[in-house]
Amino acid sequence: MPFHKKTLTAHRFLITGGAGFIGSHLVEYLLHHEASRVVVLDNLATGFRENLANFEGQQGFEFIEGDIRDLADCQKACEGIDIVLHQAALGSVPRSIQDPLTTNAVNIDGFANMLTAARDSAVKRFVYAASSSTYGDSQTLPKVEDKIGKPLSPYAVTKYVNELYADVFARTYGMEIIGLRYFNVFGPRQSPKGAYAAVIPLFIDALLKSNAPTINGDGGQTRDFTFVANAVQANILAALTDEPDALNQVYNVAVGERTSLNQLFDILKQKLGSSLEANYGPARVGDIRDSLANIDKARTLLGYDPQIDIKQGLELTLAWFQQQA
Ligand SMILES: NC(=O)c1ccc[n+]([C@@H]2O[C@H](COP(=O)([O-])OP(=O)(O)OC[C@H]3O[C@@H](n4cnc5c(N)ncnc54)[C@H](O)[C@@H]3O)[C@@H](O)[C@H]2O)c1
Repeated sequence: MPFHKKTLTAHRFLITGGAGFIGSHLVEYLLHHEASRVVVLDNLATGFRENLANFEGQQGFEFIEGDIRDLADCQKACEGIDIVLHQAALGSVPRSIQDPLTTNAVNIDGFANMLTAARDSAVKRFVYAASSSTYGDSQTLPKVEDKIGKPLSPYAVTKYVNELYADVFARTYGMEIIGLRYFNVFGPRQSPKGAYAAVIPLFIDALLKSNAPTINGDGGQTRDFTFVANAVQANILAALTDEPDALNQVYNVAVGERTSLNQLFDILKQKLGSSLEANYGPARVGDIRDSLANIDKARTLLGYDPQIDIKQGLELTLAWFQQQA
């Protein structure tokens, strides 16, 4: 059952970063619900063409290999588009500490290019991936949208700058823009590969290979782990809302539950019948200790209602990883 009442058939969507983890779930949802056009712009920096393999050849689907750092690529991708779901970015706090300039170029220049191209193509709605990292050093829990701290990493700076640009483009050019501050999204197709993989695919991959994973710090740090279907729901609601008060806002996209890394590891061990012990390493620079969202704003203004909690989400994710093994 779709959680939106409106049909998608009248809308033409562009998903930047559509070959990535969250982007490919958006593509899947939109094609399944018969959006008339679903264009992906991705340079495959961290995404994979195989994430889109099931959609190639489907009516209305188009893949453009291109880079958001190139304005011409953004302009081409925005032609004839009604709604942009902008996911393309370089994720990962450690990556941004290692190479702040590339993260800056993709996440800030690329973002400004996409906003400019969307403005010039008279795109009707621009929804973008913001981040819980914007809460920075604020100690307040749960996190409420209008109370942020100072960024703790170059990545967090870029995601905060996105919010500033979005606000200015909305005010200056009359655009309709919505930012979604994702909190630790996980699910099928999230890559366990590379130095900058996220914790859930890393743990699952390690457990399935009977390797002990490394937990950075004491494992007591907590996150509001959010199954990807909840993030998809938030995007679709933001894309389709007619509520004027809902526009030109940022929203927490999470579940509103807190789980420590040690608890996460125990749940996964239990589900897999494993007795592996984790190794503990030094805490990571740039990471916040605790993260938990207040999701009232998205509930009230967008009608967001997350359907999948962490335990159900982990089961679905494990099932997918086991299928791949
Ligand atoms: N996964 C999370 O927990 C999380 C949390 C907060 C915010 N976000 C944000 O959500 C978005 C999607 O994240 P994800 O987890 O799906 O990551 P991902 O790495 O799987 O997806 C990002 C996609 O963007 C593409 N991309 C990167 N640089 C590009 C460029 N220069 N031009 C065109 N495409 C480019 C990549 O190839 C990839 O397909 C990102 O903006 C990320 O910052 C994710």
